[in-house]
Amino acid sequence: MKVVTQASEMMAALAEHGRPRVLVPTMGALHQGHLALIHRAHVLAGTQGTVVVSLFVNPIQFDRAEDLAAYPRPQEADLAACRGAGVGVVFAPEAAAMYAADRSVTVQETQLSRSLCGAARPGHFDGVCTVVLKLFLLSGCEMAVFGEKDFQQLAVIRRMVRDLNVPVTLISHPTVREADGLAMSSRNVRLSAAQRADAPRLRQALLAAQAAFQAGTRTPTDLLAVVRQVIGVSGLLRVDYLSLVDAESLESVERIERPALLATAVFYGDVRLIDHIRLQP
Ligand code: PAF
Repeated sequence: MKVVTQASEMMAALAEHGRPRVLVPTMGALHQGHLALIHRAHVLAGTQGTVVVSLFVNPIQFDRAEDLAAYPRPQEADLAACRGAGVGVVFAPEAAAMYAADRSVTVQETQLSRSLCGAARPGHFDGVCTVVLKLFLLSGCEMAVFGEKDFQQLAVIRRMVRDLNVPVTLISHPTVREADGLAMSSRNVRLSAAQRADAPRLRQALLAAQAAFQAGTRTPTDLLAVVRQVIGVSGLLRVDYLSLVDAESLESVERIERPALLATAVFYGDVRLIDHIRLQP
């Protein structure tokens, strides 16, 4: 496995490896969810291709300095996990190797990022789009694999790829969950024991709303009330947002007549977790 820390060294490192190149962009702190993405990348790359994993905590997508500072960075464990998973090339740059001090060009998405995490975290998706485009260019990948847990991120990146004619095929992979239903996230390790025990409530609340939907409840007010009822009894979490949006436009809906998305972000202390569920009429 080749580990590259400088953007300028990527081309030479990749030249020794076959195509197709399949990129799995991550911010490290790898868990089973990431390993599922890497496994999927191997299937796509086949015997001749190369799986490229980036480990980079991208500073420009963080809206809170304390979140960036607290983000876990277990680099040795991440490299060992990549080695164990048969990754061909790891790109693990420092921020200074990715961003010039006087950088002045970014990618901005102006439609899909107006709701949900985009509304709650100003500038977040500009940071994501900018780094993902850079990672696509630096890796020269034909394909890239993203988790569906970050539903809005996937939608925004799809839009970027479409609107900027980026020659990369995006592959999405279902959310990987713990046995108790909590969506796997690098942030989960920052939960206290009590918070971790409470966190599956998020999934339970979304499933309760889905059950109500299947039983005929159609208005956002009623469905969101079901979610609030399940998560409301927890004194440990604070809701950042709870929204029902159209699954394509990500705009709020008054009544569910097309595929919709019930999405939420909550804070346990300063640890922010997200999850969503699709509602299919
Ligand atoms: O989903 C993530 O881990 C990050 O947002 C990504 C796509 C690696 C960009 O930094």
